Amino acid sequence: MLDSQQPPFVPEGAEAMTVRLDLPPGDPGSPPHRHSGPVFGYMLEGEMIFELEGGTGAAAGPAGAAAGGWELVVRVFLAGATGVIGRRLVPLLVGQGHSVTGLVRRSADADWLRSLGAKAVRGDVYDADGMRRAVALAAPDVVMHQLTDLKGGNRRANSEMRTTGTRHLVDAALAAGVRRVVAQSIAWVYEAGSVPATEDVPLDLGADESRLRSVLGVASLEAAVREAPEWVVLRYGLLYGPGTWYSRGGLMADTAARGGLAADGDVSSFVHVDDAAGAAVEALSWPTGFVNVCDDVPAPGREWVPAFCRAVGVAPVPVASGGERHGWARGASNEYARKELNWTPAWPSWRDGFAAL
Ligand SMILES: NC(=O)c1ccc[n+]([C@@H]2O[C@H](COP(=O)([O-])OP(=O)(O)OC[C@H]3O[C@@H](n4cnc5c(N)ncnc54)[C@H](OP(=O)(O)O)[C@@H]3O)[C@@H](O)[C@H]2O)c1
Repeated sequence: MLDSQQPPFVPEGAEAMTVRLDLPPGDPGSPPHRHSGPVFGYMLEGEMIFELEGGTGAAAGPAGAAAGGWELVVRVFLAGATGVIGRRLVPLLVGQGHSVTGLVRRSADADWLRSLGAKAVRGDVYDADGMRRAVALAAPDVVMHQLTDLKGGNRRANSEMRTTGTRHLVDAALAAGVRRVVAQSIAWVYEAGSVPATEDVPLDLGADESRLRSVLGVASLEAAVREAPEWVVLRYGLLYGPGTWYSRGGLMADTAARGGLAADGDVSSFVHVDDAAGAAVEALSWPTGFVNVCDDVPAPGREWVPAFCRAVGVAPVPVASGGERHGWARGASNEYARKELNWTPAWPSWRDGFAAL
């Protein structure tokens, strides 16, 4: 057997047909017309031109979309729609004309999603059967995984989310025939090194015990996501900005006020939460792979901690003297995202971003 595919979920009452069109060279094709459901076109030879009402024609596919200045409409199932990234993602995706179904646990969140023009489905990612039904019903092109379990500050809970939660979500995606999974990961679980890590640096599977749970959780999440035919793993830097831990009144502002942030040599990479959400939208059409989504300036704690303290109005932490940098605390390089994917963060430096907090 060379290949096998799970048939996609077909809602009750749905109808499918296959039509073959033979058009002679130079034929202008059909006049503009509407289709009531998803239509798939396979070109054997030649070129298919889509024409949006009021727009100019563009060849089918992402390249055509770019050339024609219009976006492909993507059906997105967004798990984590109410999270710190998800909340920003929903209006961005809807604003680009995509069809969004958000996974929520509370009816008030369902109402909020609908008010933005998205659909909502109630469910818990730990209910594997419920997830299969939810994803099948949404019949998405892309499953977007922005789930974490960090509100309680419990690392074990977040590891469980990365392993079991991701497993259920990916299983549901595969069962529904979803082609692409885009998932949130982190950019500080690379092996030790002397320069900011690129995406090809292995994960730090030999980490000490205090860090190993995170690394294994990430490895498990990423391995599951890679089972999808197409996938993008967004390895985010430390999120900062409104609603995150690194904000005025946020968890890290409190930690800093208690003297709990070390202004030492450990290097971190940051990303503004708006840039994190923007990258997730762009990842709908990025090639399969890992992408560090971080700003341009990985920095040691001795630089960013005092700036953060000033920005959030807490007494500056004395700068630590001496002390070795942890080898893994190296930051991450965004060169691939910037140069190959043309990703342009609105906040290229945490220095400006912190100052605006
Ligand atoms: N790279 C980073 O630095 C990074 C990344 C992510 C988060 N964080 C930090 O963590 C803080 C908390 O993150 P957050 O606000 O995104 O909250 P969170 O509690 O981690 O939840 C994230 C999302 O996952 C959903 N979720 C959690 N458990 C679920 C389950 N069992 N079934 C279905 N959905 C579930 C949540 O839904 P509900 O609304 O129903 O709970 C929410 O939509 C942020 O302020 C941020 O600073 C940092």
